[in-house]
Amino acid sequence: MTSRVPGFYKLSPEQRLEMIAGHLGLTENEKKLISGKHRFTAEDADRMVENVIGCLPVPLGVAVNFRVDGEDLFIPMATEEPSVIAAASHAAKFTYDTNGFSTSYSGSIMRGQIQVTNLKNPYAAMAKVYENKEDILELCNKMDQTLVSFGGGAKDLDVQVIQGSSEKMVVIHLLIDTKDAMGANAVNTMAEAATPMVEKITGGNVVLRILSNLADKRLVRARATFHNPFQGDETKMATFLSACELAVADPYRAATHNKGIMNGISAVVLATGNDTRAIEAGAHAYASVSGRYQALTQWEREGDSLSGTIEIPLAVGLIGGATQSHPVAKLSAKILRAKTAEQLAGIIASVGLAQNFAALKALAGDGIQKGHMKLHARNMASMAGAKTNQIDDVVRIASEQGKYGFDDIKEIIQSLNEEE
Ligand code: MEV
Repeated sequence: MTSRVPGFYKLSPEQRLEMIAGHLGLTENEKKLISGKHRFTAEDADRMVENVIGCLPVPLGVAVNFRVDGEDLFIPMATEEPSVIAAASHAAKFTYDTNGFSTSYSGSIMRGQIQVTNLKNPYAAMAKVYENKEDILELCNKMDQTLVSFGGGAKDLDVQVIQGSSEKMVVIHLLIDTKDAMGANAVNTMAEAATPMVEKITGGNVVLRILSNLADKRLVRARATFHNPFQGDETKMATFLSACELAVADPYRAATHNKGIMNGISAVVLATGNDTRAIEAGAHAYASVSGRYQALTQWEREGDSLSGTIEIPLAVGLIGGATQSHPVAKLSAKILRAKTAEQLAGIIASVGLAQNFAALKALAGDGIQKGHMKLHARNMASMAGAKTNQIDDVVRIASEQGKYGFDDIKEIIQSLNEEE
């Protein structure tokens, strides 16, 4: 299977789905679910969240041209923002024949925090927790025998004394390997179960018991070499690299630089039914671990090419929660052909890196508005009733005239209709 599909964007949604379904062997029923012909109903939604009155459909697209760890992939992305899926597909083209993205994973260890207060001797309490480590871990592992049978479970703990504004407290971090699950349920269950034992050992009061979204033991790194996108224009190349320097040095720019990365990451996270807020919280907290908020990517010149790297915590899974209860999210995982949380995380990090390349390429070149407005005009043209064979002409005329308002687009369609 090749993910290189020139002109994918020119196909109709039905043709795109047919092509993807053909490659991945999707059934008629699966195609109906993705295309919305089998609707996800309020009754389905009612099984997922509370007080349901309906559903908010979000567009689901597929990014093409991706090769991750030697495998060609179609990447499902759920987003309301125009340009994001086009930009990811465009960026991936620049690294397809340099073997795409290579990834590595630190493992799927999550932290569960247990906060202990009212301690007479916090440092002695900390030492006692370490003395009883094996008993605490054993108790935690009794809570999830299935996870343990897959090689996961509570593996270790570390303890910190933290100075609050009124007292010194002890915070225990349970280090739990959640394998192919995001892990919030397993972690929170274990942290709660350990409470009586921890209170007995420390003599204090356990307050919070909850997973930390700063998943710094679940890091993914992705790397790729991108062909020079500027056809020898050294000024643009220098601008690209200078923009990266600014994102490392300046939190105001870093926030936008990282927002662009998260445009891609959150879209795949949402498409696969993972927790977008957990991923966003973890990413931004990790961007600040040095004490200063920084860019999540680094770019270096490699001969005439650009070498990009990303390092980001990604607590994503393929089992549990909406990853399985939402039928379309389940199909997104099928399209991705990811068998493990590790593979899924590697793919998501690669999309983040691609998204960042596309944004920096546009910013160092013509700016982002030119491409963005063209896509905007495409959407408006179909909303304003353009026929499929008119859309390219509407976009061309709108960009020639620099007119993108809804009324402008309607006028262009009218003049095309009159010419026919
Ligand atoms: C817009 O959604 C994202 C960008 O602002 C990212 C960036 O500036 O790097 C284009």
